[in-house]
Order: sequence, then C-alpha cells, then structure tokens
Amino acid sequence: MTLTLIAAVAENGVIGANGELAWRNSDDLRRFKSLTTGHPLVMGRRTYESIGRPLPGRRTIVVTRSRDWTAAGVEVAHSIPEALTLVEGLDAFIVGGGDIYAQTMEVADRLEITHVQLHLPGDTYFPAIAPANWERIRVDHRDGFAFASYRRRPLPVTDLPELLGALAPELHPGEYVYCTVETVPAGVDPVVMVAESEGITLVLPKEQAEQLGIAGIFPCVWITLRVPSALHAVGLTAAVSTALTSDGISANIIAGYHHDHLFVPVDRAGDSMAALGALAHTRP
Ligand SMILES: NC(=O)c1ccc[n+]([C@@H]2O[C@H](COP(=O)([O-])OP(=O)(O)OC[C@H]3O[C@@H](n4cnc5c(N)ncnc54)[C@H](OP(=O)(O)O)[C@@H]3O)[C@@H](O)[C@H]2O)c1
Repeated sequence: MTLTLIAAVAENGVIGANGELAWRNSDDLRRFKSLTTGHPLVMGRRTYESIGRPLPGRRTIVVTRSRDWTAAGVEVAHSIPEALTLVEGLDAFIVGGGDIYAQTMEVADRLEITHVQLHLPGDTYFPAIAPANWERIRVDHRDGFAFASYRRRPLPVTDLPELLGALAPELHPGEYVYCTVETVPAGVDPVVMVAESEGITLVLPKEQAEQLGIAGIFPCVWITLRVPSALHAVGLTAAVSTALTSDGISANIIAGYHHDHLFVPVDRAGDSMAALGALAHTRP
C-alpha cells in the first residue's frame, strides 16, 4: 500500500481560503483526476463540503468527529486510524485539507505536490516538506507552477552493530597522495577536495599528481566503506579508527554523504582490509 498526499501548494504554504481552493488550474485538475482515479480518497469533512459530492470513479472516505454526519455515496470515518484501516493494503490518496494533511504527513509514503509559484492569500496551509524526510524524485516545470513527486527517505540506520556488519570495505586499485593547491588545475579528478583558507586539499591518484607536477605527501591506498547514514551513527568512525590503530595502522578517515573513505599507508593495505573484515564480525 502506498499512501500519497496530493495538494496544490503556494510558495507561502497556502492551500485554501474561506473553505475554497486557493488556486485552480485545469492542467492541475486533470493531473489530480488521472493520478487518483481508481483509488480511494481520504478527505476531511470541510474539504468534502467544499467539493459537495463524491468524486466519480473513486471511493470517498470522509473524516469527521460528528456521529450524525452522512452523505450519499460516502464512507465515513471518525478518526484518522479508522480512515487508514478502510484503505489498508490499497494505494490511497489523502486529498486534504490542511487539518488532515497535518495529521497524515507522518505516515505518508509519497507526496504529489503542485508547487504554485505565487504567494497566495489564505487561511489553510500544507505542512512543511522537510528535505531531511522527503526526497524529490521528479519535477515537471510548467508555466507558473511545477508538478513535483516526493518519496519518504528511508530511516537512517543508526544501530552500530548493524552498520559494522554492512561495512563492505572496498580497496580501490592504485596509489593516492595528499596535495595542496591554490586553484584546482584543469583535468584533475580528485577523490577528495577540501577548501581551506590556506589552500585546497586534494587527494589525487599519485600518477595524476606526478603528471601535473604537484607535490604529494602521505602515499596511500583508498578504501571505501558502504555505510548508509553513517553521518547519524554514533561511534562508527571511532570503531573503524580503533580497529586500525590497534593494529598500528595510521588512517585518515573522511565521511562522505554516501560512503566513508579511508586512506591508509600503501604497505598496510592488506592489514587494513583484514582489520576491517574482522570489525564487521565484532559486536561492540
Ligand atoms: N490546495 C489543495 O490542494 C487543497 C486540497 C484540499 C483542500 N484544500 C482546502 O483546504 C481547506 C479545508 O481544510 P481544513 O483544514 O479547513 O479542513 P479539512 O482538513 O478538510 O477538514 C477538517 C475536518 O475534518 C475532521 N477531522 C479532522 N481531524 C479529525 C480527526 N482526527 N478525527 C475525526 N475527524 C477529524 C473534522 O470534521 P468535523 O468538524 O465534521 O468533526 C474537521 O473539522 C479548504 O479551503 C479547501 O479548499 C486545498
């Protein structure tokens, strides 16, 4: 089952004004129809009343606290969990309004947002779309608005034993060196680049540094670790560094967004891979 929130949202977050949509566009209405037809819709009682009828070709589930409220062709739910139970196992859409979006954002899998490039007056808002939680996977720019699709980012792995078990160290061929330059020369392909006020630090293939006549220090090999969400993990870098130092291996560790990168002396490449392999089987 995929639970998708679908909405048209202005730059200031406004979605509605005085019980009506804050913005209307025929392309947007057509997209709404094509995405939602054949799927159940969950909406708040106020949104239902602004539409005034069930939408054709779609089950309409209206959430209300009122025990008396009914409407022809509509299923009624008296809480959000009750509405979600009615659509369990199905690809369903939450179609508003602000009150219902706010209560379902946490459990949604996807967002289909029409970003309206206007600040609109209004009284009802869509919740903030935090980039830490939502990845924009598609965007289709139109005149004055854009259709964007988001999916929820997977929860970061923070469990240290789980991360250590998934390290999958990979030794890259060749040798590397650390260099410092004032500007990055054309044609270099650094593994790492750090801009510091004293100059730019690069880690380059040794051959490339030699060809460009750039002096290098710390001849090393490059090992990457597959550590999803390492930036959230407490103790991962310490565990890696302790495993290497206990074998007398000096290592420079740089945490990237996707991998951790280790640079170890060339003559300790094999020992480093063995120490990292053993670490994957330890339970701290
Ligand atoms: N731009 C867009 O894409 C878009 C989409 C949809 C709607 N809108 C706009 O949004 C506005 C309506 O939004 P809204 O926030 O005012 O109202 P709403 O979310 O549509 O409906 C709120 C109502 O839902 C019921 N409800 C809410 N939480 C509940 C819960 N936990 N359990 C049971 N019932 C619950 C209550 O109904 P009772 O009062 O009956 O108990 C509440 O008054 C309108 O202006 C509409 O045009 C815009």
